[in-house]
Amino acid sequence: MAIIQFPQGFIWGTATAAYQIEGAVREGGRGPSIWDTFCRIPGKVKNGDNGDTACDSYHRYPEDIGLMKKLGIGACRFSIAWPRVIPDGDGEINPQGLKFYRDFVDGLLAAGIEPFCTLYHWDLPQALQDKGGWASRSTVDAFVRYAETVFKAFDGKIKYWITLNEPWCVSFLSNYLGVHAPGNRDLQLAADIAHNLLVAHGKTVRRFRELGVEGSIGIAPNVTWIEPYSTAPEDIAAADRERAWYVEWFMDPIFKGSYPEFMADWFRGKGATPKIEPGDMECVSEKIDFLGINYYTGNIVRHAPGGGLFDSEIVDAGHERTDIGWPVYPEGFNRVLQFIADRYGPVPIYITENGACYNDGPENGRVRDETRIEYLRKHLIQLNRAIASGVDVRGYFVWSLLDNFEWAEGYAMRFGLTHVDYRTLARTPKDSFYWYGSVAQNNRFEV
Ligand code: BGC
Repeated sequence: MAIIQFPQGFIWGTATAAYQIEGAVREGGRGPSIWDTFCRIPGKVKNGDNGDTACDSYHRYPEDIGLMKKLGIGACRFSIAWPRVIPDGDGEINPQGLKFYRDFVDGLLAAGIEPFCTLYHWDLPQALQDKGGWASRSTVDAFVRYAETVFKAFDGKIKYWITLNEPWCVSFLSNYLGVHAPGNRDLQLAADIAHNLLVAHGKTVRRFRELGVEGSIGIAPNVTWIEPYSTAPEDIAAADRERAWYVEWFMDPIFKGSYPEFMADWFRGKGATPKIEPGDMECVSEKIDFLGINYYTGNIVRHAPGGGLFDSEIVDAGHERTDIGWPVYPEGFNRVLQFIADRYGPVPIYITENGACYNDGPENGRVRDETRIEYLRKHLIQLNRAIASGVDVRGYFVWSLLDNFEWAEGYAMRFGLTHVDYRTLARTPKDSFYWYGSVAQNNRFEV
């Protein structure tokens, strides 16, 4: 038997996002977001689902904080909905929106749970989308103003800030692949949006420093690990492009102040070049205090002329898959963390998301999600290997506390440690809840 021990002071938490759990979309003065709009376009979200009610956490958050207490976690990653705080994005501030989050944060603090706040988890105010959305620099300025509003309202209470969740999803998934709101399919547009997001991030970090806000700030990109099919140079190059789309495209600007040249060349060949204004790259590379990493899956890729955006194809090597169809690739977690630490040097890392979709439901009041426990166990071992190799990982947030609105998959896909019955909104902790709770409380587990 081996003991997988985490460092002293390691932070254990759960993660959620506003639109996925809150519901109450027309309450408390909230304005509409691009997801309210997107959900109403037929065919965009499975079963025509929307976030109108979700887990109703807007009303039931005390119960959710109770679940976190029961888990025994030390931290909670949540997001603030921009359209609750500034309903039209850049106009009047809505005190009711701020009050909701103040009550929530006070509840966390009273429970001894450290709040980690994400400023943007995809719910752009629709009024800003109507004016060009993230393709417009005015949205960047509006974001900085919104961030400043929230920094001032929570200074001293929230000590960990995350500017953006998964800029790859906000740009390429939403504006090139068309899968998420607003659903565009345009590579140039997506490249411009990716760039504007990085500028919004950098400007926000700069503002955070200027204001002297107490605490630390970072960003949470989603990464994957892409293993080349063979050692053939063209397979390696294809895998490099696929990985760099998630990792280097976003992290090189942040840590090195420039885009990776081989990728910029590749995109140029596809007719897409981000519009960079003077001073942008200095701003984007404003020093961050920590890096958030979201990791779920990995793949094996080989060169395939004409295949997709990168002349590549995924080879299904028979890895198990979660219920959403993503390969279970725990080794990639260790590899990508080591890759990031090697490439960018020492930076404190928090795993801001990791978790699995398994759609088990209650049987006689119990949810036996052994597969989720296995997934978490395998990933935590790989995380521990990365830490043992010197990667400075300070904490881990499982996605997610609750089953919730899984974006384009609606309510069909469940990532929670807690089952939610969407008819009654009853919460039932799954077996994985108790397993994860014991890991969090002991800071270790046995294998
Ligand atoms: C997102 C979450 C999402 C999860 C599972 C991440 O991409 O940040 O909002 O629910 O992965 O798909």
